[in-house]
Amino acid sequence: MNILLIGSGGREHAIAIALKRSPLLNRLYIAPGNPGTARIGDNVDLDVADHAAVIDFCREAAIALVVVGPEQPLIGGLVDELEKHGVLAFGPTRAAAQLEGSKGFTKDLCRDYGIPTARYARFDSLAPALQYLREHSAPIVVKADGLAAGKGVVVAQTLEEAERAAQAMFGGAFGVSGAEVVIEECLEGEEASFFALCDGVRALPFATAQDHKRVGDGDVGPNTGGMGAYSPASVVTTEIEARVMSEIIEPTMRAMRERGAPFKGVLYAGLMLTQDGPKLIEYNCRFGDPEAQVLLPRLEDDLLELMLAAARSELPQERPRFSPLTALTVVLAAKNYPGAPITGWEIRNLHSAEAIGDVTVTHAGTREEGGRLIAAGGRVLNVTALGASVAEAQARAYAAVDLIDWPGGFCRRDIGWREVAREGESR
Ligand code: AMP
Ligand code: GLY
Repeated sequence: MNILLIGSGGREHAIAIALKRSPLLNRLYIAPGNPGTARIGDNVDLDVADHAAVIDFCREAAIALVVVGPEQPLIGGLVDELEKHGVLAFGPTRAAAQLEGSKGFTKDLCRDYGIPTARYARFDSLAPALQYLREHSAPIVVKADGLAAGKGVVVAQTLEEAERAAQAMFGGAFGVSGAEVVIEECLEGEEASFFALCDGVRALPFATAQDHKRVGDGDVGPNTGGMGAYSPASVVTTEIEARVMSEIIEPTMRAMRERGAPFKGVLYAGLMLTQDGPKLIEYNCRFGDPEAQVLLPRLEDDLLELMLAAARSELPQERPRFSPLTALTVVLAAKNYPGAPITGWEIRNLHSAEAIGDVTVTHAGTREEGGRLIAAGGRVLNVTALGASVAEAQARAYAAVDLIDWPGGFCRRDIGWREVAREGESR
């Protein structure tokens, strides 16, 4: 069958690699794709915000399933449009994507269904928000309600910082995403990401990961889209997983069904593992980037078969199988990221990195120009390695990174440090 994959990042390159392994796949199209996905399937120059154009393409190319990678087209209602025209899609409808699209929506749902999360209040104007902040003590968390590219959250250590954040959000720093603000209790613990595969009715546990959001070694500096990740996250024990499924994921599935917006696709829960058990920090309605790059190389089952089953509301009883190996991804970014990245440098010697066994390089912000590979974005490449331990995967990934000749790029040198330290302790 023919598949259309929407997106152009490292996540979509990783999804493309996993789909390519399926015996069910005939043609794979990626819109708009990147130089990495072009080696796996056919990139198509489609404006994915133009739903009519996407539907026309699906008809012309006899597309059996559309897989949507990023959140914007989901929140923009692409799946609703596809379903209306009889095209099967993997991903939630606009209403179901509210789990990511509106923090306030998700917080209210947690309250109504007793899902453990930080205590919170919602505000649509500044004065009551400031009043609330003064009645509560720092540290406290201030969030713009809508999508803000990972930058709409301020974990304020002082009341002044919290007030400044609320002022900036209501002052339009995030456009309409900041027209509403959520203020919540600051949770303490270790963070982990939990992924479930959902078919509208049922959810299967998929896999876990931990990422590194800060730009600098030692988790310092500004937040980014993610500088690296690894999977599995050993902090999510079997016991914690069972609690996440029964206390967080399953009630969410029930809630969404009862609200007439059944959730299909990947439900990605950002968790805080607190002393009182796992609590939901936030939901995303799709795979993470770079989390997909560490989850999918470990998947032993057929991703396409699973996505079809989810889209058709026919997920199997058994959970997907994963390799016990660890996968670790190092993100290579253009200098000055997450500020305006310095682009235009040529990247050389990628093939040497890719030649190392158990190493895969996925593309994000790259461009091809006359046979040369050029850095063309903030996060540019992802180097993923498999290993029997995190330390082994880490060593392999950095050995590959060091072969890439790109003076305009940088990466963190400590991806996986928490888990490497834990491995050291348990030895
Ligand atoms: P989010 O965009 O909601 O994932 O938030 C970004 C980051 O802010 C999270 O990964 C956490 O590190 C932090 N964060 C968000 N909410 C809380 C909270 N209630 N308590 C502590 N940290 C939080
Ligand atoms: N790496 C975080 C995300 O994809 O949202």
